[in-house]
This record gives sequence, C-alpha cells and structure tokens, in this order.
Amino acid sequence: MSTILVIDDEPGIRTVLTDILEDEKYTVLTAGDGFEGLSILKEQNVDLVILDIWLPNMGGIDVLKEIKHDYPDLEVVIISGHANIDLAVKAVKLGAFDFLEKPLSLEKIITVVSNAIKFETLKKENISLKDSLFMDDKIIGESEGIKKIWERIHQSAASDAKILITGDNGTGKELLARAIHRFSNRASGPFVEVNCAAIPDTLLESELFGHEKGSFTSAIARRKGKFELAHKGTLFLDEIADMSLSAQAKVLRAIQEMKFERIGSEKSISVDVRIVAATNKDIQEEIAQGNFREDLFYRLNVVPIHVPSLKERKEDIKLLVDYFMKRFNQNPDTAPKAISPEGMKILNDYPWPGNVRELKNFIERINIMTDENIIEKETVLYFLNEIPSGQNGSSHLDEYEGMKLNEAKEAFEREFLIRSLEECGYNISRAAEQLGIYPSNLHGKIKKFGIEIKK
Ligand SMILES: Nc1ncnc2c1ncn2[C@@H]1O[C@H](COP(=O)(O)OP(=O)(O)OP(=O)(O)O)[C@@H](O)[C@H]1O
Ligand SMILES: [Mg+2]
Repeated sequence: MSTILVIDDEPGIRTVLTDILEDEKYTVLTAGDGFEGLSILKEQNVDLVILDIWLPNMGGIDVLKEIKHDYPDLEVVIISGHANIDLAVKAVKLGAFDFLEKPLSLEKIITVVSNAIKFETLKKENISLKDSLFMDDKIIGESEGIKKIWERIHQSAASDAKILITGDNGTGKELLARAIHRFSNRASGPFVEVNCAAIPDTLLESELFGHEKGSFTSAIARRKGKFELAHKGTLFLDEIADMSLSAQAKVLRAIQEMKFERIGSEKSISVDVRIVAATNKDIQEEIAQGNFREDLFYRLNVVPIHVPSLKERKEDIKLLVDYFMKRFNQNPDTAPKAISPEGMKILNDYPWPGNVRELKNFIERINIMTDENIIEKETVLYFLNEIPSGQNGSSHLDEYEGMKLNEAKEAFEREFLIRSLEECGYNISRAAEQLGIYPSNLHGKIKKFGIEIKK
C-alpha cells in the first residue's frame, strides 16, 4: 500500500487526484503549498510526491530541490501547465521522475504514478545491495580539472585552512566537501552540513548557533546549533551565497573568533571547527551586487576550489557513464549495460546543464526502465528527455501546416534565399556561390519569388 503526497494550490486538482488515486488503492495526503508539503514529509512516510510546478510562496522548483536534497530517493512527479513546460523539463533534469501536463488525463496519471512507484520499489530493493558494493562517495574523473582538485585537496586536507568550493549545480561540490573531511585529520570527528538556502532566515541563526528553551515561541527545548555539533570536525556551509546579510555578519564573527552564543543566552561557547563552504552562484558577482560580504568571502576563500562543469571536462563523461552503469546494474549476474558508439556521441555533445547529477539520474533511469544491453541512440535521446519536436508547439514545421508539398518547398526556398542574400549583404554573386547555384539562376528565383533586394 503506497502513500502519495499531492502538493497543489488548486483545491480542484487536489480533489480530482485524490479521487483517482484512492480508486487505484493508494493512500493520498494533500498539501496546499510547498511549506505544508515539506512539513508533511518530515512526519509521514511518503512513497511518491506529485508536485505542481507553479506554486505560491515557495516555487515548485525550490520545493523539488529541497525534497531531492533531503530525500534523494523519493520520486517526484511534476504537474505543469502548457505555458510552464520549460520549467517541467528543468524539473526532470533536476531529478523529477516525469511530468504530467494539464489538463490532466486519467490514463496518463495512472501510468505515470504506477511507473514511479514501481521505480521506487525496485530502487529500494537494490539500495542495500548497491551500498555494500559501492562507496557512494567515490569521485570519478581523470580530466585535468579533477586532477587539479585532487592536488588541492591533498595539499590542504591536513591543515585547517578554510575551503570555498564553487561550481555549477550537480558538479559534485558536496561530494568534494565530504572527501576533504575524510582526508583531513578530523576524519574521526563529525561532518555536519547546513544548507543555508533551505532554511528560512528567521531559523538559520538558531540552526547554526542553537537556542535556549523559551528564547522564542517555538523554542520548546534547548537545542545545540550546527557549529556546536561540528566540534572537532568539519562544518559544511552549503549554498553560502544564499544567506541573508544579517546571517552573514553573524557567521563572520563566529568563524573569526570560533566563539558564539546560543539564542537566548549570554554565555559564549568556543568550538574547534573546520569550515568548508560551497556555492553555485558567481560569488564575485554577488559581492558586486552587494548581496555578499567581501570580508566574509576573503575569510572563506583561503583555499579556492572550482569544480568545472561537465561540458568543460568531456573526457570524464565516458568514465562516469561506465561507473554509474556498474553502480545501477539491476542484475549482478550479467555485465553492466553499455552505450552504443552513436549513443555515446550524443552524450558527449549534450551540454549537461544538470552536470554529474543529471548524468547519474539518466543512467539510473536507463537501467531500471530498459531491457536493452547495448543502449541505442534513440533510447539515449528518449531518456535525455529531449522533447520530440511538434509536441511542445514550437516546431519549426508548424508554419507549413496545411500546405501541399510544392507550396511548402517554395515557401522554404524563398526563406532560405532571403537568409543567404541577407548574410551576403545582397551581393548576388556571393550569395549564389554560397547557395551553390549560378548567379543567373539566382536572379531568376529572385524575380519568381518577388524578393526585394535591399541595399
Ligand atoms: N566526480 C563524480 N564522481 C561520481 N559521482 C559524482 C561526481 N560528481 C558528482 N557526483 C554525484 O552527483 C550527484 C550530485 O553531486 P553533489 O550533490 O555533490 O553536487 P553539488 O555540486 O553539491 O550540487 P548542487 O549545487 O546542486 O548542490 C551526487 O549524487 C554525487 O554523488
Ligand atoms: Mg550541493
């Protein structure tokens, strides 16, 4: 019996989905916005989330990121209007399982939900096996970029120097932060992580420094902050550029003095903590915009580590593919799947906006959803979620709708000639050469199509 959480601000959609899914014998919970949804996840066991991409307050993308961060194995299906289809595609790249387009079709809902639940169950069955075979924190890559990073890590791991890791989303910043801790003298101490972006500003201070009982309305018990919990270990301040300026001021003081007070207490607490920070924002730009304190930046940036995007280290793509193919192999008795040479070419040319995370999700899906042992180009394209043209309404063929082949050919020819003429500044002989026809022939066509010669 699986439980599904529906997060949508429209009561109508919540009711419809509840009815449909309950008929299919699922247990359904509902939430009207992201915050409510996230608090339900904290308290209840949920097997699948259906999430509206367009939500008030906290947007669907942010809710998705938080779910994927806190519950990486929980699958999320996105609901999107036709106008937000780009967002839905982005969501899938961020790890959403699939999306449903409004108006919702009964059949599609049932298929997508049952696929997602099946995927989730298969994953759970495999997790324990995989964990015993693979250390999830192995860093794969032999590109120059990755080699340089290893050098930095080895040079600085033993010292307590603060490290600032920058890089696009999904490049492996968190993975590196954990590696730094493992290679440091603090490896036997705690590794404590704070995601500064996910915690509302009003709670961040208490999260970092702790509070005494009764210091504010919801402070029902005394609580240690992350700085204290990381004593003798490493404190990983993730998404640091998303902290408010007032929180930055407090963090600056705490890391300068290694001393702070719990909220509601006068007593200073001293700790011994190594700071590793990370951000996917352009921090120089944030400083220029006045969003990030320059003094805090200099404090944190003692050892800078920049993780290049996957498209800047294409030689790692094949290694990562092979690694994840082994990691997600569903059947340990058979060899891992492989990608055909044509398929590999697609993967090499693909820009990977979601970087290694996107590649990892892609290989995981292929392993669970296909039976092919050699993955062909078509399957690769399908699972990359490249929307087939025509479906998103912006196909370049739409303008030929309703024409006969001859008419369409002529319309295309006219456009094509005009483009070439424009590119050549309406110089007939150059354009003719570019088009591979005789100038006299081009003259004839210009007349035939009534193309205006601009100078
Ligand atoms: N070089 C790598 N080798 C193996 N796995 C990797 C590598 N880089 C990233 N990963 C995997 O990709 C996923 C994303 O990595 P991680 O969470 O560290 O990225 P991030 O840079 O912190 O992303 P974000 O900016 O979105 O927080 C993780 O599952 C991680 O294990
Ligand atoms: Mg991260």
